Amino acid sequence: MSRVALVTGGSRGIGAAISMALKDAGYKVAATYAGNDEAAAHFTKETGIKTYKWSVADYEACADGIAQVEADLGPVDILVNNAGITRDAPFHKMSREQWQEVMDTNLSGVFNMTHPLWPGMRERKFGRVINISSINGQKGQFGQVNYSAAKAGDIGFTKALAQEGARAGITVNAICPGYIATEMVMAVPEKVRDSIISTIPVGRLGEPEDIARCVVFLASDDAGFITGSTITANGGQYLT
Ligand code: CAA
Repeated sequence: MSRVALVTGGSRGIGAAISMALKDAGYKVAATYAGNDEAAAHFTKETGIKTYKWSVADYEACADGIAQVEADLGPVDILVNNAGITRDAPFHKMSREQWQEVMDTNLSGVFNMTHPLWPGMRERKFGRVINISSINGQKGQFGQVNYSAAKAGDIGFTKALAQEGARAGITVNAICPGYIATEMVMAVPEKVRDSIISTIPVGRLGEPEDIARCVVFLASDDAGFITGSTITANGGQYLT
């Protein structure tokens, strides 16, 4: 029986590529999204992957949504915490709302999704939790104190939970994408984006599929000895 994978923010950008790659690899896939009904409907029509709408920032909504996915597809074995937002501003202009929204989605969202699924993974003695962090959680980024803090938090979460999951057959890993050609990166002012691209040794933005392939590997049985690790996929922009 094929395993069930749940991808947050899985109908657009990097998440959509992850959902499709997992489907192609033989998993039953569910994708969540927070707001864009039109994009989600289009994604389901194109791929046949069912989408579910809730905010990962809302713990109760996550618990209820997960229960619905499990009723539809069966127990979730693979969780990809991909949903993320930006609210970029230099720190002196950053509002409390900009700070809080990013923390709620990008860091608490990872807790909110993983926590309800954890007991089932422990019971079944199998699980894969894959957290999409960011290059900017590793190096920091001007204009992203909120985002860099949350994404660095995701790496700490990964390392701590990996230790707790190890004996139960659950691996917990992070991937740190660099700048990938998605709407999120395209929203950065062109001049700023060009100057960022000039610092990427491979000379281009990454593709969502560059990240999706890492996820498929970490989800596989072949990756069972890899836990608590961070895969850096950034075209050489930042070397850890
Ligand atoms: N380093 C040093 N100084 C910088 C700088 C940098 N990287 N970027 C901007 N500045 C300076 C500017 O030169 C300017 O200085 P002066 O006033 O002396 O000219 C000052 O900071 C203010 O700049 P702006 O007028 O542009 O300020 P702003 O408030 O309009 O916008 C910003 C600032 C929102 C941070 C904008 O520069 C920006 O969007 N930067 C990109 C942030 C970024 O990389 N976001 C990543 C999004 S993609 C993502 O997050 C995915 C992922 O995981 C990689």
